Amino acid sequence: MKRLETDELWTAIDDYLADCLVPGDAALDAALEASQAAGLPAINVAPNQGKLLMLLAQATGARRILEVGTLGGYSTIWLARGLPPDGRLITLEANPDYAEIARANIVRAGLDGKVEIRVGRAQDLLPGLMTEGPFDLVFIDADKPGTPGYFQWAVKLSRRGSLIIVDNVVREGAVLEADGDANVQGMRRFFELAATDPRVSGTAFQTVGAKGHDGLAILLVTASP
Ligand SMILES: C[S@@+](CC[C@H](N)C(=O)[O-])C[C@H]1O[C@@H](n2cnc3c(N)ncnc32)[C@H](O)[C@@H]1O
Repeated sequence: MKRLETDELWTAIDDYLADCLVPGDAALDAALEASQAAGLPAINVAPNQGKLLMLLAQATGARRILEVGTLGGYSTIWLARGLPPDGRLITLEANPDYAEIARANIVRAGLDGKVEIRVGRAQDLLPGLMTEGPFDLVFIDADKPGTPGYFQWAVKLSRRGSLIIVDNVVREGAVLEADGDANVQGMRRFFELAATDPRVSGTAFQTVGAKGHDGLAILLVTASP
């Protein structure tokens, strides 16, 4: 077999894995097409990562999910599909144009009865969710400098047994750079907080694939916040 360049190889393997285990889906494909047509950046999770989110929601029996960073609602659709019939998902998005695209994608996926998009900056919206928690699963995937603050809110909005998932924690290895950019600083500060917070137990791993070299952190809330 001809050896592919690393990125091509990762993408080809992602395609292979998706073909095997994450078959095409009209609503998800339409969400990506509509997002691309509207000019949204292609920074959604990959299909196999989206399915991981759905499986984690199902495996933990999540009934209430909070997402920080909606974009076109691609990961939202995956997460919402992991909810039981009476489950609910709140997703926060700062850009009203993106939220509009996401709304249409979520309606097309038949999930508008479960999903509520709140438009605004997460740092402004999160304090108002204290009366609506606790959430069983929180997915953090918005602006990276904001991640430490979102993580702190996620813990407050959780219960013992909740899962907190944070995307883009490796940043092509830049997470090793102590003097890295604001995105890297956000992730390094997040890791400091996660490492020293006695209420959570977590791990993180690198990912390679169609979305390049990055990583995901998964934390279990082990004590009542
Ligand atoms: C990586 S994208 C989310 C991708 C989405 N989770 C998916 O996988 O389909 C990050 C999103 O966070 C939004 N965002 C950036 N800063 C934000 C903030 N302060 N509050 C809420 N959303 C924010 C961006 O507009 C963008 O849509």
